[in-house]
Amino acid sequence: MRYANRLIAGWVLTTLVVAAGCVTAPPTEQGAGTGGGANKTGPVRIGFSMDTLKEERWQRDKELFEAHAKELGAQVFTEVANGDDSQQVNQADNLLTRGIDVLVVVPHNGEIAASIVNKAKAAGVPVISYDRLIKNSDVDLYVSHQVEKIGEMQAQYALDKVPKGNYVLIGGAPTDNNALLLRVGQKRILDPAVARGDIKIVADPMARDWLPVEALKHTENALTQNSNNVQAIVSSNDGTAGGAIQALESQRLVGKVVVTGQDADLAACQRVVEGRQSMTIYKPIKPLAYSAVENAVKLARGEKPATSTTVNNGKIDVPAILEEPISVDANNMATTVIKDGFWKTEDVYKNVPRDKWPK
Ligand code: BGC
Repeated sequence: MRYANRLIAGWVLTTLVVAAGCVTAPPTEQGAGTGGGANKTGPVRIGFSMDTLKEERWQRDKELFEAHAKELGAQVFTEVANGDDSQQVNQADNLLTRGIDVLVVVPHNGEIAASIVNKAKAAGVPVISYDRLIKNSDVDLYVSHQVEKIGEMQAQYALDKVPKGNYVLIGGAPTDNNALLLRVGQKRILDPAVARGDIKIVADPMARDWLPVEALKHTENALTQNSNNVQAIVSSNDGTAGGAIQALESQRLVGKVVVTGQDADLAACQRVVEGRQSMTIYKPIKPLAYSAVENAVKLARGEKPATSTTVNNGKIDVPAILEEPISVDANNMATTVIKDGFWKTEDVYKNVPRDKWPK
């Protein structure tokens, strides 16, 4: 990129960053390409490249990430690609041009984002893959939850409630490695029941970009094709569960069909305590965001993050930190999501008569 273009890109970026309420440091080329390392002194500059803020959780990830960086004296430059791969690649280029010391990426597309890692590494900037794995590249660290286990928990919950019957699986975006891992976990639990002839998977579509409207369409189709003879919907997150439940609504099947989810979105937690959605998976975001920030600072300073496992991304075994997910239904909402302060009782139980609220 020409210098003048870079300045313009820097100005646009700063405007966006200021508009988004992030760090408001003036654009500067100083320190560009320092790329972290043992000699790094002064405030660490972290680039945070996010796919989307569409699902509620990502807003929380962003807020906690930025707040903790501030506590540690690091500067964060956040960019959000709104589900657009070329946008995410351009934004990452801009962050590198601005001399970040470390890059944290939530990839929209786990394959395409490998090019972001390659460029960062060529500039000497370490990369953390956040929540979603970036494939086939030299990622320095992967921080996430145990995603296959989440798939297993969703499927096991459904199987405990519906040991026999017709199942629909609504997966997430096929471009997101997490969606694929969830499906692996779900099938690990369901396949033996299919083999025994206890359950039948009558449809297993993936929802493009995790869109609720895609889930709605897929569920409508599955219901039509099976004359509403569906007993369980293993939906991979709360957004898609919302779409599935909308389809059930028009057939007056809400509460009669088991529906799983993930993220503990407020709307989903409300549906769970109202008996409209069976369960969700609660993933505490604070440990994830905090660990990403702390390890970003370490990597920028040339230190090695403490990890307990690795995950193969098709090229290397990426050192990984994988947090524990928690299965939540109406019975343990109070002792998990609410006790943790993730949501308040009055918000989750807003549509439930007061005498039914947890004590
Ligand atoms: C995340 C989920 C999220 C989904 C859609 C997945 O990679 O792990 O928490 O609901 O993306 O954004």
